[in-house]
Amino acid sequence: MDQKTFYITTPIYYPSGKAHIGHSYCTVATDAIARYKRMQGYDVMFLTGTDEHGQKIELNAAKAGVTPKEYVDEIVAGFQELWKLLNISNDRFIRTTDDYHVKAVQKIFKELYDRGEIYKGKYEGWYCTPCESFWTETQLKDGKCPDCGREVKWAEEEAYFFKLGNYADRLLKLYEDQPDFIQPESRKNEMIQFIKNGLDDLCVSRTSFTWGIPVDFDPKHVVYVWLDALTNYITAMGYGSGDDSDYRKYWPADVHFIGKEIVRFHTIIWPAILMALDLPLPKQVYGHGWLLFGDGSKMSKSKGNVVDPVILCDRYGVDAIRYFLLREIPFGADGLFTNEALINRINYDLANDLGNLLSRTTAMVQKYFGGSIPAQRQAEDLDQDLVAMATSLRGRYEESMDGFQFSNALAEVWKLIARSNKYIDETMPWALGKAPDKAPRLAAVLYNLCECLRIVSILITPFMPETAPKIQAQIGAGADVCNWDSADQWGLLPADAVVSKGETLFPRIDVAKEIAELDEILIQKPAEKKAEAPKREQPVEGVAMIGIDDFAKVELRVAEIIACEPVKRAKKLLKLTLNDGQGQRVVASGIAKYYTPDQLVGRHVVLVANLKPAVLCGVESCGMILAADCAGGDVKVIFVDEIPAGSKIR
Ligand code: MSP
Repeated sequence: MDQKTFYITTPIYYPSGKAHIGHSYCTVATDAIARYKRMQGYDVMFLTGTDEHGQKIELNAAKAGVTPKEYVDEIVAGFQELWKLLNISNDRFIRTTDDYHVKAVQKIFKELYDRGEIYKGKYEGWYCTPCESFWTETQLKDGKCPDCGREVKWAEEEAYFFKLGNYADRLLKLYEDQPDFIQPESRKNEMIQFIKNGLDDLCVSRTSFTWGIPVDFDPKHVVYVWLDALTNYITAMGYGSGDDSDYRKYWPADVHFIGKEIVRFHTIIWPAILMALDLPLPKQVYGHGWLLFGDGSKMSKSKGNVVDPVILCDRYGVDAIRYFLLREIPFGADGLFTNEALINRINYDLANDLGNLLSRTTAMVQKYFGGSIPAQRQAEDLDQDLVAMATSLRGRYEESMDGFQFSNALAEVWKLIARSNKYIDETMPWALGKAPDKAPRLAAVLYNLCECLRIVSILITPFMPETAPKIQAQIGAGADVCNWDSADQWGLLPADAVVSKGETLFPRIDVAKEIAELDEILIQKPAEKKAEAPKREQPVEGVAMIGIDDFAKVELRVAEIIACEPVKRAKKLLKLTLNDGQGQRVVASGIAKYYTPDQLVGRHVVLVANLKPAVLCGVESCGMILAADCAGGDVKVIFVDEIPAGSKIR
């Protein structure tokens, strides 16, 4: 019988700057699933790579005084080194500058053109010459370029368009027919709303820069970077090249792992392109959350908060970092990365729980039995609970892993570790060791602990590929009893297994000292410290001063707008449904003149959460969102999209 295949991908990363911990997050998650599926017996294809074209890279290279290719070559090498360091087991690495990809993209573009799915049209808008950018009317700031503030002029540029607008119904039907296509569920609702607001045709070529794949039948155009990038998932398998056997074998992908901000490209544009080519669609797109940093922001070089994974791996070991990334934050949600949380996980979960279980067990086998557990073992009722928990663990773990709930899968494993540690306290092997006639009972206790460690070691392999074999070596378990099938079996460790106390897996860390050092070195500080703002001695004119206690009475929270509609009886009002992190609430806001509902849904705003409810034109409003009165009578809502809903503002 043919081996079942499993094809999983990461996004292809922009080599516009060094690889950082945010990139590592998705790649480590993808690696854990790839390893898990291989252990289960699948023929896995794991693809990652780099997305190397586009204006930003062209500009960065020009600034650095090198060619774009020279520029990306160096950064891509850094990505590849980091993946090696993190033990990433990708089967393939695609670069969009690879010749075979370039040719395949040109073929795909031509195919879409020949099928009438791409047509030549005109790109119109307000053009800023120094920035080489088109802007729509609403994007302009006071009629000027929103980036540089300079004058803009109306311009038209010849461009190719993909008939994305034709695919709205088919996409909505896809989401209905394949309810798991977009995960997690909340991201699906955002996409449905986006499509319902109207899908325009998509501009898929540019003439304003040259660092891209030329349209071969009209070479002054280069292919839009997202069309170039998305197709990597099939070109890497040979689609559009001579040998497409891997394409036929692995496509459609089982899942694309991507960050939440690029779900739209993967669940609207990508399936529409595939539909236009009459090709099968990926089975699932999973939009994970972001790793956020101290100030609640996504990592960004310009903010100077780029956490360097190489430094972390050097200090704590690769497996500790892999474990932390996937244990700390539920995969679909945003989560804070802090040095304190990292060190606590290492100390509690790895050094205390797992490390101690292994070192206590192996030390006792050596002390009482010279490293080999006697075959004569006496079971007791107490053991049954432990054995039942251990042999049923794989099932619970698989349930979580199949839904990409890494954190839950690990939590299940750690329950067995905690149960095993408790079993040591209950059975008191040190007391058994004192009575020679208790040797068979002591042998059973230590054997059971080794068996638990064997099962734990198998199940942590996808997460901690270096630690698992170290545990297996210390308990003397060979490969034949450490495969997937043996993870729900009991009593497989042979009687002649040689148990030896080895190196400490995870040394404990002095929290205070370490955090002080880490804060100093890890956060790459921006080169220049900004000049300190002059102290304000006077209150704002005409406004009374308040004490901190007055301010503390106002409960400010970040909330996500999950729905928005006009209020029939009041032209000025919009009715907003908010997720405030604890539940839903409705707020009426007088911003209808300044925003349409589609500009608001999905955005994060600041909510006054403890304002007494009031009925406004028939809508019971529970709270208020903050906005600024700007020059010229404009009102702008304060958006805080990068801060998770529910965060308290102080
Ligand atoms: N090149 C595109 C993807 C094309 S896929 C056909 C791109 N590249 S990116 O380098 O900007 O981002 C790649 C991935 O890294 C995204 O999925 C993004 O969410 C992820 N991350 C970057 N910083 C992150 C965090 N701080 N946390 C988690 N993931 C984040 O978009």
